[in-house]
Amino acid sequence: MLEIENLSVSYNSDKKIIKALGPVSMKISQGEIYSVIGPSGCGKSTLLQVLSGVTVGYEGSVLLNGEKLNPKKHSIGFIPQNFGLLPWYNARKNCLLSLKIKGIQIDGALEERIHYIAERLNISSLWDRFPDELSGGQKQRVSIARSFILNPDLLLMDEPFSALDALTREEAQELFMDMWDEYRTTTVFVTHNIEEAVFMGKKIVIMSHCPGKVVEVIDNPLFNTENLRQNEEYLVFSSHIRSIIKKGWKI
Ligand SMILES: Nc1ncnc2c1ncn2[C@@H]1O[C@H](COP(=O)(O)OP(=O)(O)O)[C@@H](O)[C@H]1O
Ligand SMILES: [Mg+2]
Repeated sequence: MLEIENLSVSYNSDKKIIKALGPVSMKISQGEIYSVIGPSGCGKSTLLQVLSGVTVGYEGSVLLNGEKLNPKKHSIGFIPQNFGLLPWYNARKNCLLSLKIKGIQIDGALEERIHYIAERLNISSLWDRFPDELSGGQKQRVSIARSFILNPDLLLMDEPFSALDALTREEAQELFMDMWDEYRTTTVFVTHNIEEAVFMGKKIVIMSHCPGKVVEVIDNPLFNTENLRQNEEYLVFSSHIRSIIKKGWKI
């Protein structure tokens, strides 16, 4: 369980204090996937930077499975918008980097898991390629593989599909959801795209403009539904979400 309580973040820049987020409170149960949607600049990336342990100067508390969030103790996966692959490592080395950093030895069982995930994401034939020899969709599949190989306590995704063209994006979303369904990693998925938030989030957290607060958390009856846009309920549901986002402008 991820428990965020009264989390606020401010940036100190040029002697000005910029309040970027909060206060925000939310709870995400073990094995759930929530999408967080909000306007550009509302603090979504800032939230993920706190959850990944990059930003430590925050107010409030963040507990993961009952303990203060600590990237040295907890294993945290991160799929950023630009895929986050190191250009001087090939695809396989990129996938295994987090294991190496954590000092995890690759035994037979882990090697089997790596092989299985690479096959599922159709990247086994790309193992020797470097990131600049991969297409956007292939880089994204490597990035997804890396996260599931790590098997993290918490997976963070920051608009991970926004750099992909529409068809590749749909394919990557569906592939990710298949993998998530199998491994049930606790996931926070950040986006500014309503359709993506509906496809990817069992619950949808709607944030206000900067400094972002939670306007509403809604249950999502259309979670992981194929061909969302053609679904009659989707039209009504997405305009409901849009109206809550607009409400957030007045907070
Ligand atoms: N390093 C920084 N220094 C100062 N202000 C920042 C910094 N990073 C982000 N901000 C500000 O904090 C707010 C939230 O930014 P961000 O978390 O990137 O939003 P989002 O990801 O929702 O677009 C914005 O107003 C942004 O300008
Ligand atoms: Mg952002």
